[in-house]
Amino acid sequence: MIKKKLMALVVAAALTLATAGCSASAVTTSTGVSASNTVSTDSSSDKTSVSLSVSSASVSASTSTSASTSASASAGSTSASTKDTDEGDTKVYERTKVFDMFSEMTVGWNLGNTMDAFGAGNSLRSETYWGNPKTEKALFEFLKNNGFNTVRIPVTWAEHTGKAPDYTINSEWMGRVREIVDYAMDLDMFVILNTHHETEYWLKTDVKNKDAVKEELTAIWAQIAETFKDYGDKLIFEGMNEPRLRGSAKEWSGGTVDERQMINELNMAFVDTVRESGGNNAERVLILCTYGHSADAQAIKDLQIPKDDNIAVAVHMYTPYFFTYVADGSYSNWDGSHKQEIADAVKSVKKYLLDNNVPVIITETGTQFKENTADIVKWIDDYFGIMDENGIKCVIWDNGIFRASGENFGVVDRRALSFYDETIARAYTDRYKK
Ligand code: GLC
Repeated sequence: MIKKKLMALVVAAALTLATAGCSASAVTTSTGVSASNTVSTDSSSDKTSVSLSVSSASVSASTSTSASTSASASAGSTSASTKDTDEGDTKVYERTKVFDMFSEMTVGWNLGNTMDAFGAGNSLRSETYWGNPKTEKALFEFLKNNGFNTVRIPVTWAEHTGKAPDYTINSEWMGRVREIVDYAMDLDMFVILNTHHETEYWLKTDVKNKDAVKEELTAIWAQIAETFKDYGDKLIFEGMNEPRLRGSAKEWSGGTVDERQMINELNMAFVDTVRESGGNNAERVLILCTYGHSADAQAIKDLQIPKDDNIAVAVHMYTPYFFTYVADGSYSNWDGSHKQEIADAVKSVKKYLLDNNVPVIITETGTQFKENTADIVKWIDDYFGIMDENGIKCVIWDNGIFRASGENFGVVDRRALSFYDETIARAYTDRYKK
């Protein structure tokens, strides 16, 4: 992912600063996160925008004064900073089932660089195209036996779909995805299925193309939803992965007002499509995300939450960036002096989501290996300690790469069915041992 990596380097400072700085700006510039409006600083541009979410669920109607009138993506949503109530303002969405499910999760694991790999065209070869072996049930058995009870299966659909308007998914590809989902479901694991590197192809938050993007997202989710509609609750859908405009100035800092509104509409299209497909999809847990899966205060505040009991929100939090990634200025020792950055990164998530009955999960975190086992163990202790205090579960990113060039996020040696570094793996899993 050279492109992503370069971009990540460019925005590294912005991301880290935004994460810390944004929480601060949210606290100091929010002149009252009242029922339906917030005044906030757009963290990445110094531009203070008045962003008023118009939502039918908001008790007091509000008008948008921002250039783009942010009409609600759907009649049934509220902004993240408001409580979710129905039209009569009586129903409070407690989301108990989702909170209960998440509390049962231990640490999760991403089957990275596998079904999400692209470049091989419309072929089953995609699965192994980035160097990982073909997935077998034994891998999930290994994970489960070692304390991981949740797997996220990132899937890139773009190369496996036909043309508009049907965007028919190649049945062999869908069959292979289903086979892998079944491996984990048979073992009674939680499974998170998503759409992954679509931003390389069609899922660009280029607002001019909003309708076309929505149409494709809807078509893809309609087919996934149909395929899995009879699956049990442990199968969870996550609508998008890091949706954003690649190369844009705000790619890693929460996007623009218009882009965030587009994300709201896409999230809503995803929810509506899955819900309409019936079966167990009517009540399946659906995970929405912010722009770029950012935990930036503005990205979270502008997120609209559907009036739906079985909804959660995901962010990605490789924090602190300079510890978890390799980049100019990055470091590999962990002495606790950067711990506050993790605590700061969680502040908006807590204030606008968790405290408003919106369950949160981190569907990607982790750190690259830099021959620093002891430091990683201390980082895990601090990072997961903060997440546990806030009731947030995490899915670690694992791309199968360890001691090689590229992003060394590997934890599980999928060929040997062992851990690359047992001490690190145990630090993740042991904290959830009953
Ligand atoms: C994102 C990318 C993935 C990358 C990971 C860590 O999920 O989609 O390719 O490896 O972040 O950088």
